[in-house]
Amino acid sequence: MDTLLNAYSQERVEFIRGWWGMYFKEIEENVNAGKFPFHKSERDSGEFLFYLNASRSVGEIVLELACGAGRMSIALGHAGIRVIGLDASLPMLSYGHKILSLFPEDVQKRVRFVQGDMCNFALRKPVRLIIIPFNSFWYNFYRMGGSPRTHADSCVRCIIDALEFEGRFIVDAPNHNNCGYWWYEMAEKYGFRFVISDDKYFHTVLIGEKTSR
Ligand SMILES: C[S@@+](CC[C@H](N)C(=O)[O-])C[C@H]1O[C@@H](n2cnc3c(N)ncnc32)[C@H](O)[C@@H]1O
Repeated sequence: MDTLLNAYSQERVEFIRGWWGMYFKEIEENVNAGKFPFHKSERDSGEFLFYLNASRSVGEIVLELACGAGRMSIALGHAGIRVIGLDASLPMLSYGHKILSLFPEDVQKRVRFVQGDMCNFALRKPVRLIIIPFNSFWYNFYRMGGSPRTHADSCVRCIIDALEFEGRFIVDAPNHNNCGYWWYEMAEKYGFRFVISDDKYFHTVLIGEKTSR
């Protein structure tokens, strides 16, 4: 966990805080006005609506891996979805808590942040949807120790273990590290089917569905 925490240390969070800070006030104003809370480009790019529709179609709690400061978890919670946001970095999560505290109590109750490793986690109760927005699956390829794909493989195993039968997972930008074919190996190894689509959405996304019981 230490190397991960270093990767997204307080210093890195300060950088992101600057980025968010550009419109932190705007988040606050939007919350008070009952509007979409984050920058409208995030809604207009289609990314948020894509994850919202996916979450609504399962109608249950959604797990976001590598949720960072909760950009997507909080937006989904604000739209009525119950979300668990998991991230390795305490500074990122504490910034997420700070943003979440701007929101009404019902939104705060729908979003839960936990510190954890997306390559080594387990849920008490399986879920129907796991999402990894904004390139965050890539971090698995840059992690120290093991071959570049060791951690990515562990992450996929944890995802499949944490899903109900026919539950789905969504990975943003899955073709990084020339790993297009690798997804077929993973599908066979862990029991899921998938499509990779880049024509309908904001980015290329992989949508997987667990086929193993
Ligand atoms: C680009 S940021 C988060 C973006 C977030 N998904 C979003 O859409 O706003 C990437 C995050 O991945 C987290 N991260 C990297 N490796 C991780 C791991 N193995 N387990 C959990 N979180 C991880 C970092 O701490 C960081 O907060």
